[in-house]
Amino acid sequence: MTAAATFRVDPSWYWSRERAAQEWEHMWAKVWHMGPRAEEIPEEGDVFVHTLGREGLLFVRMADDSVRGYYNVCRHRGNRLLLAEDGPVYAPQFTCAFHGWVYDLEGTLVHAPYKERFDPAVIDDPACSSLRTFRVEAFAGWLWFTLDAAAPPLRDYLGPLADRLDAYKMERATIVDYKTFEFACNWKTTFDAFNESYHFQTLHSEILAWGNEDAPITLLGIHSYMVNEYGKPSTLYPEQEALNPQLEMLLTTNGIAVESFTGKATDVRRAVQEAKRARQGQAVFPYENLTDSQLSDAYHYMLFPTTHFNLFPEFYVALRYRPHPGGDPEKMYFDFIMCAPMEAGETVPPYTHRVVRGGDEPVEEVLKWGVRKHPIVDEVLGQDVGLVEHVQRGQRSQSFTDAILSTDERRITHFHENIDALIQGRSVRDLIAVNPVEADAHPGT
Ligand code: FES
Ligand SMILES: [Fe+2]
Repeated sequence: MTAAATFRVDPSWYWSRERAAQEWEHMWAKVWHMGPRAEEIPEEGDVFVHTLGREGLLFVRMADDSVRGYYNVCRHRGNRLLLAEDGPVYAPQFTCAFHGWVYDLEGTLVHAPYKERFDPAVIDDPACSSLRTFRVEAFAGWLWFTLDAAAPPLRDYLGPLADRLDAYKMERATIVDYKTFEFACNWKTTFDAFNESYHFQTLHSEILAWGNEDAPITLLGIHSYMVNEYGKPSTLYPEQEALNPQLEMLLTTNGIAVESFTGKATDVRRAVQEAKRARQGQAVFPYENLTDSQLSDAYHYMLFPTTHFNLFPEFYVALRYRPHPGGDPEKMYFDFIMCAPMEAGETVPPYTHRVVRGGDEPVEEVLKWGVRKHPIVDEVLGQDVGLVEHVQRGQRSQSFTDAILSTDERRITHFHENIDALIQGRSVRDLIAVNPVEADAHPGT
């Protein structure tokens, strides 16, 4: 029997400058991206400064409550208009620090010193002097953007993923933790690490006490998802009957007294589902919209090509991968954003969005910043981010000519295949139309 030909992920794609330039032209500039949360710019004149590779972008809350996207670029000679670091600022108008051109919130040039020295046919023509815009759409409480005026609408781009995410009522959530890491690796090196759970059995072996690693995978067009069940030991875990501390914690946090629980370790997941089902309609969490599996398990969605959502009913983690502004394909930004809905009477805990640049602060310290502690997140994230730069170095070796991928890693193959298709000249619309939407590999039991 001969093995079916599989797609080859070329290791040079993780470090080649030529490949990075192709990715920018055919992918970053063509697809939809996750920008800020809508709540980060609540009032007219609030602006979110966001960097994507070489582009500086401004998300602006307008008088009519809509959000406009402007390139952070002065039309005069190209200076960045707002010089602030990424994050929210208040800027009811934009004044360029170089020669003093002033733009209003509508992006119109309202003042230019010694305007009479310019050709009125140019400076008075809004097409020449107004700020350049990019498209923004709101979905799931986030502001999404594309730099391609001809890109399909966001909902078409997301396809069947949009309905699945709708069920989680993500717009009810608010940010509770936000960290940005600068890594010395390609953005795809980190992306791949979060796009499979085959590594749980080695890197996160403590998860096996209460969660599975052989997650069923479903391809949803250009996107995909996997389901990590929580509430029973993995079949790789030696003890299947007696409770362990992780399962006991899960019972306790769901209001089930450990002493009175008579089931086995493998029964905890069902008990947790029943406890949450009994609370449906009485909690801020969207239990009534979710299947039994979604009540207990982590649904890990990949939104092609730059975002993961790892969703539980009570909170979720958004992971965003960005190319480096300096253009070095062996550097990247990794955003970790945890969101949760607040129960009635609960106030949003304060958080500080901090950026850690390579080597500035040990990863273990950075992980202590969060205000909301979660056992999966605290331990597991540290294990993942501690490894990616080592993976990058190995992939760079002349000895490393091919990755050997398992079926558990087929989301990785699917991801790289779609990036490559764009680079080979396929359009986003074409890619959306031809990628199969598979039957759910995890029918929600
Ligand atoms: S570059 Fe902005 S005013 Fe000259
Ligand atoms: Fe991991």
